[in-house]
Amino acid sequence: MPSQDAPQPPAPSRTTVPHPARLAVLVSGTGSNLAALLAAQSEPDYPARVVAVISDKPDAGGLEVARAAGVATVVVRPADFPDRAAWDAALARAVDAVDPAWVVCAGFMRILGPAFLGRYAGRVLNTHPALLPSFPGAHAVRDALAHGVAVTGCTLHLVDEGVDTGPILAQRAVDVLPDDDETSLHERIKVAERAMLVETIAAVARRGVRVDGRRARIGG
Ligand code: GRF
Repeated sequence: MPSQDAPQPPAPSRTTVPHPARLAVLVSGTGSNLAALLAAQSEPDYPARVVAVISDKPDAGGLEVARAAGVATVVVRPADFPDRAAWDAALARAVDAVDPAWVVCAGFMRILGPAFLGRYAGRVLNTHPALLPSFPGAHAVRDALAHGVAVTGCTLHLVDEGVDTGPILAQRAVDVLPDDDETSLHERIKVAERAMLVETIAAVARRGVRVDGRRARIGG
């Protein structure tokens, strides 16, 4: 039996929000995952709405995808701030301004810092193009190919202070084909990734997330 002074594990936490759930989407790239979410929300019963798209890169294709859909865009460039902490705080302010229920990193290629996660911990999701915990980091597809795996895929997980280390909400497997290069494999992963993102965000928006240590469950 633990002594009275022993640290207790954190109690399971549960996050639910009203419908439709407001989403802030963070992008650095072409925005095909964002486009899939925007297409899904054109169905009236889709339980989430992208209310803003925020990027670290003024030329990110995802910003154009957002503008074409009439969604508000914001750019928060690291180069405009004296250090990472100031950028992180500015990013948090930009997200605060749109009051989202969930923050979705959809190809956002920067690490979120303590100011951001202090405010949004448990409500930030990230899509990653590998089956975590294998191949975290910015070169997941290349690393999986180089390792010679026969199966890779994609993961949607909650963001914690590590790099692609947070509790996992969903995964999809994708076979590696003999002639795959990084581009062909990534494109097939992204097909699976978009479906995973749309389905899982809907489930999260409808039923919330329960986190107990490393285990995250939708509903619960
Ligand atoms: C996705 O595969 C994402 O997991 C990775 O970069 C890709 C972004 O694609 N980090 P897009 O910008 O949504 O098209």
